[in-house]
Amino acid sequence: MSQEKKSISVEELKREPYRILLSYPNIVQERVEILAKELLGAGVSQVLLIGSTKLDGLNILGKGCTAIVFAAETVYGRAAVKVLRVDANRKTLENEAKFLKIVNEHDIGPKLYHTSKEFIIVEYVEGKRIGEYIRELRGKGVSKRLKKLVKAMLEQAYVLDQNRIAHCELSNPLKHIIIDKNEKPVIIDFESATSNKKYSNLTALAQSLFIGGKISPKIRRIMNIRDTEKIVTALKEYKTKMDFESFKRVLESVKINF
Ligand SMILES: Nc1ncnc2c1ncn2[C@@H]1O[C@H](COP(=O)(O)OP(=O)(O)O)[C@@H](O)[C@H]1O
Ligand SMILES: [Mg+2]
Repeated sequence: MSQEKKSISVEELKREPYRILLSYPNIVQERVEILAKELLGAGVSQVLLIGSTKLDGLNILGKGCTAIVFAAETVYGRAAVKVLRVDANRKTLENEAKFLKIVNEHDIGPKLYHTSKEFIIVEYVEGKRIGEYIRELRGKGVSKRLKKLVKAMLEQAYVLDQNRIAHCELSNPLKHIIIDKNEKPVIIDFESATSNKKYSNLTALAQSLFIGGKISPKIRRIMNIRDTEKIVTALKEYKTKMDFESFKRVLESVKINF
């Protein structure tokens, strides 16, 4: 089916072909009616069919194992609505809401606007997934821009570590970091987050960005990093100490000054 409208009302969301957004992968009409009513009550006025992911011909912001994410006009302004999938391996999005509330206080993650059992309304992060951003990165001043971005990402991971919050999916940053219009990295999807004293988000993220991940060769090339051994050593030290001094040594190992 080809998409015609770019914007629909919550009323239209109850019908074909749009109701799949509220009940994926199979339609449970009772659920559709309940969620549509709740969305209205939560201040959603229009659903915007924009984004690079296609769901049955409809453009949405994204689709994961747990949820469907679409854009909407709301009382909070333009926002992202994340709706639990019918086949998700959990019953609510309350865990994500709980952790978003905490990390928002440290200016991490999209801002949480509204929580319900089966959906959350968060800030719409307009930008590119990190993979696409790195792929398209070229031109004058790239090294400086990339260093600034990498530093901001590592700092956020460090803050999560200090607060003993394990995001648990930063070893795969491609799906979980969006670079916004101001080139600020935004970590998304706190659905799998847990409280954990030992876990290091920084180690998981840095390992992927510089050593093992798909985008690591380009990052190393732009930042002129030849010695990955130094990074591995710094990360090992950080993993046991998890303090500011060892964090600074991780930054140094990738040629970033604090
Ligand atoms: N706040 C947001 N702004 C813009 N796009 C988003 C936002 N949240 C999620 N997305 C998009 O939706 C996709 C799926 O969201 P995610 O939270 O990872 O769902 P899941 O928990 O199912 O993995 C993401 O990869 C991203 O592309
Ligand atoms: Mg995800």
